[in-house]
Amino acid sequence: MWVPQQLPEIAGPLSQAGLKLDPKQLADLTGDPMGAVVALGGCTASFVSPEGLVVTNHHCAYGAIQLNSTAERNLMKDGFNAATRAQEVSAGPNARVYVMDQITDVTDQVLAATNPSQDGLARQKAIEGAQKALIGDCETEPGMRCTLYSFFGGQTYRLFRQIEIKDVRLVYAPPGAIGNYGGEVDNWMWPRHTGDFAFYRAYVGKDGKPAPYSADNVPFRPRQHLRLATDALQTGDFVMVAGYPGSTNRYALFDEFQSVAEWQYPVQGKYLQDVVGLVDAAGKADPEIAVKYAATIRGWQNAMKNWQGQLEGFERIDALDSKRRQEDAVLAWLRSRGKDGQPALDAHARLVAVAAEARKTRLRDALVGQFANTGLLSNVRGLYRLSIERAKPNAERAAGYQERDLPGFDGAIRQLERRYDPKMEKQLLAYWLGEYVKLPADQRVAAIDAWLGGNDAAAIQRALDDTYARTTLGGTDARLALLNADRASFESSTDPLLKLVVALQPAMMQLEDTAKARSGESSRYRPVYLAAVQEYKRSQGEGVYPDANLSLRITYGNVKGYTPRDGVEYTPFTTLDGVVAKATDTEPFNAPKAQLDAIAAMSPQQRAAVPVNFLSDLDITGGNSGSPVLNGKGELVGLAFDGNWESVSSNWVFDEAMTRMISVDHRYMLWIMDKVYPAPQLLQEMGAKR
Ligand code: ARG
Repeated sequence: MWVPQQLPEIAGPLSQAGLKLDPKQLADLTGDPMGAVVALGGCTASFVSPEGLVVTNHHCAYGAIQLNSTAERNLMKDGFNAATRAQEVSAGPNARVYVMDQITDVTDQVLAATNPSQDGLARQKAIEGAQKALIGDCETEPGMRCTLYSFFGGQTYRLFRQIEIKDVRLVYAPPGAIGNYGGEVDNWMWPRHTGDFAFYRAYVGKDGKPAPYSADNVPFRPRQHLRLATDALQTGDFVMVAGYPGSTNRYALFDEFQSVAEWQYPVQGKYLQDVVGLVDAAGKADPEIAVKYAATIRGWQNAMKNWQGQLEGFERIDALDSKRRQEDAVLAWLRSRGKDGQPALDAHARLVAVAAEARKTRLRDALVGQFANTGLLSNVRGLYRLSIERAKPNAERAAGYQERDLPGFDGAIRQLERRYDPKMEKQLLAYWLGEYVKLPADQRVAAIDAWLGGNDAAAIQRALDDTYARTTLGGTDARLALLNADRASFESSTDPLLKLVVALQPAMMQLEDTAKARSGESSRYRPVYLAAVQEYKRSQGEGVYPDANLSLRITYGNVKGYTPRDGVEYTPFTTLDGVVAKATDTEPFNAPKAQLDAIAAMSPQQRAAVPVNFLSDLDITGGNSGSPVLNGKGELVGLAFDGNWESVSSNWVFDEAMTRMISVDHRYMLWIMDKVYPAPQLLQEMGAKR
């Protein structure tokens, strides 16, 4: 997961691995091919035509597909194929395409706001102040979105400036039985046969500048778009990915890792399993609920299974032990350096103390967080907080509540009606509260206790029934009206949900400040400790790159299978025959008849010529989904969409032998668009040879 600034450092290894382009060409982030790679906010994508056509994963477009679905017209199941531009539908008010403009190192400006006398909270607030000022300056040109990223726990800060395209439309999604073939059963698994691709189009105003959705917007004309590969990709070939991986924790302390491995994944994983069960059961009884919560539940399922895989992986590689040993080696090395090693040893001790503090309330913090961040309650909390922040000058408002954030609030209010059902929300809240009331007295939140008026299930039900029966805020218009309301009107309201939100606010602020104070402490000490870790690693001849943080990264390697167990070898490509072999009449293996018929009409050679998914030894994580996979010539050969089961623990401890990326082969994508769910207009637009 190299940062673009490291390209000179990896130029040699890139060429050795098989890159045909001059590595210098990759350093031009707005040039060909890097300029074609875009972020969606949580996923990656790329331009594949001069007319703003964007390709990404089906699971990345799933939220947009869900927003446009109803129980009667379910696009998640049936697919979507806009025959003309006019039929392309909005991907939702908050869908975005971010196009790279520039990256600037702003470490000095950020650190200038800090000083040794600040406590954790003051330090964090100072950093956030610097962040807002930098972003404010950076966004003076309309249509730009700027984001500050911190590397190595606050050692380096870089400001990204991206063109923010706000009118994103859904163009094409295959039926769910292709785009999500294998569903949760096959999620994180190999061998795989998923057609995990979909298309968006980026639209801008007639002047070519980003603008909110409007019927007369026009397609964006990107500076770069990718070309489709024509040479057949084969085992051993060079492949690379540029994309936006979300988060890894390879530099975490042993104590932090232990809390995740022994508590978060097993305990919170069990909670997720329970709420998935609740939504599943409700969805079976009511198809409206199934559609409304489809995207939400999918996220939980993905995390749940990922955590399970991580726990298995930790066992397999004895991660706790190796993490312990790695850290001990660094500490021993520091001790051996006497006075020179002391600052990093002290920093380590401070970080251990911060982690110990956080552990004390981790259960409470998780439960209250889940409760307060549920659907309507969360939406209304945001509106109240906005009214408080809005009384301040723009630059002084908390991040997330500035003028630049208002369109996001509007979008969140509007799309909630497609993802909210009061019965379901009450059930979810009842679940979280049921766990909350088991907390010891000193961890309770007075405002929640007062609202509940009791400790048992009946009290919880009474509070929820009363609040949700009488609130008028379930309606979109009622919430839109609050977008401009002042603080006093929230605080004098008799709406029971608003009363709860107002009462909760001080406690929520306190939790937020505690978390901020910890971030401030961490950003003071972690860079010092990690500088030592980096030096140690380099002295051992290891490559050093920062943990993933949603910023642009480059990873490269080769098409390659792996050996999951003794005596078992996985080859790197799957084919159409495997789609047929898995097919049943029932979800998630209900391959469409059109597809099975098309395969049946092919000769064995023809079937073998359509690879479906392939493995390579690239290093990706969630957020990389949708990333274009490029061959040595910089042409599109596929889309990254998953990691294998054995790879997920690499978020904490990298396992080179087993970590593989799973991609959908572009030849499968083109074949589907040609023979199964035809979109000749898009094939032509991408210049696909047929
Ligand atoms: N596991 C993938 C990831 O997080 C997401 C795959 C989505 N597919 C699914 N069946 N849930 O990278």
